[in-house]
Amino acid sequence: MNITVHTKLQSKETDLILAFPKDKKDINLIKKFTDFFSESDFSGESKELVYLYKKNGEGKLFLLGLGDAKDQAKSSTFFRSCAYQNRKKLSKTLSVYLDHLNDQQVFNAVNGIIVGLRQNGAFKQERETVNTEEIHFITEKAHHSAIIEEARLYSETQLDMMHLVDLPSNVKTPEFIAETAVSSAENNGYTVRVLNKAELESEGLKALLSVGQGSIHPPVLIVAEYKPANPKGNIKTIGLVGKGISFDTGGLSIKPSANMGYMKSDMGGAAAVIGAIELAAKLRLNVHIVAIIPSAENSVDALSTRPGDIIGSYSGKSIEVIDTDAEGRLILADGLSYLLKNYKPEYIVDLATLTGSVIQTLGYHAAGLFTQNDEIAQLLTASGDSVSERLWRLPLWDDYMSEMLSDMADIKNLSGKPVAGAITAAKFLEFFTENHSKWAHIDIAGVAFADSEFAKQRSATGFGIRLLYDFMKKLQQ
Ligand code: BES
Ligand code: ZN
Ligand code: ZN
Repeated sequence: MNITVHTKLQSKETDLILAFPKDKKDINLIKKFTDFFSESDFSGESKELVYLYKKNGEGKLFLLGLGDAKDQAKSSTFFRSCAYQNRKKLSKTLSVYLDHLNDQQVFNAVNGIIVGLRQNGAFKQERETVNTEEIHFITEKAHHSAIIEEARLYSETQLDMMHLVDLPSNVKTPEFIAETAVSSAENNGYTVRVLNKAELESEGLKALLSVGQGSIHPPVLIVAEYKPANPKGNIKTIGLVGKGISFDTGGLSIKPSANMGYMKSDMGGAAAVIGAIELAAKLRLNVHIVAIIPSAENSVDALSTRPGDIIGSYSGKSIEVIDTDAEGRLILADGLSYLLKNYKPEYIVDLATLTGSVIQTLGYHAAGLFTQNDEIAQLLTASGDSVSERLWRLPLWDDYMSEMLSDMADIKNLSGKPVAGAITAAKFLEFFTENHSKWAHIDIAGVAFADSEFAKQRSATGFGIRLLYDFMKKLQQ
């Protein structure tokens, strides 16, 4: 897909999208392109889509409603929906007027249209066709060009990471995830080191090894680092940690079969973190990023860790494994400890598809946010609101910790009571953060892989990349 920016329509013969917030409809602009429009046809409500023909058969005209101010953060989905629904009807060239839109709407328009026109069916004999070869963004505002380019780069990363989450686990092994990070680093200007099983053994990442020991695909630790070539001022170091379970059977505490297939998405946190560091590098943000991805397959085997086993960890702390399905916190414990021991991050954010409990609590409309630090909570929540990847803060009171104490080991991986599972999981992680004052944990179990109008089955959302991107931009010097 070839994307270009112009100040005027390049040719009359083009399909055209005109999008308007409810209070900014420009009837004269609409009438310039079509004879078949009366004002009552289009009110500008959010997601409203009117499909008309242009004058002299010169293509199709799509009027898209963007609603009012409260809908603005969501407008990316409106554009995506417009492009997706009409992807088979569009001709070679699609033009989109952006001139009258604000910066956030411009970003969302570019993003929604690029993502909406993605070609689906990677494994089909006959891949779905999308006719659109050229997208022309039309605007006279000079500063829009940079926003269009930024949105294009973000959309590329988002699509790649969505694809990674959608890939089946027979393809997407821990090693495959590591190779993805290695090629992203080579193409975008950051570095990656991958610790293989032997290195994990010699370095003592015992919790990560224990989760992976039942799989024929060995676990890895991916360590990625981005630093700007010419840092300006005293730049901040941000540590990101992402859960990279390539498939979660539950291990010997095996999951019921009905929805087990969704557990190919148990590396949604890893995808968000790889996406974030890739974007930081592509857009040369003035921050130092260290991204750690512990990755393993949680399988059923004679060699698998058993419920009741007591394992070690990189931190030196011992863990009693009550339930092998609570594996995410085990690999994250080693990821967090590795970050803390080897780097000095000022901020730490981990993302993980960690608990079914967060879905019970918040449903599919927000991720759970856990932190003791009000500043980081405020920054992340505001980012989430503005990019429509919402977060809702849940408590981390010490009262919840009593549930995680073990008689024989330093901690156990599952509370004894079937309540507040997302919080007790977060308390487990906190135990491995050495009281770092600026750590936040985001439980994305309900939002990383979801039903939507854009696919027949549940599919990846890319949740977390744009959130982290916005957060990193705020922490630039
Ligand atoms: N990967 C799952 C959590 C999950 C559930 C993600 C649904 C996405 C959708 C995690 O490893 C898990 O199995 N959690 C268990 C923990 C329990 C054993 C304490 C859960 O939430 O049921
Ligand atoms: Zn699990
Ligand atoms: Zn899991």
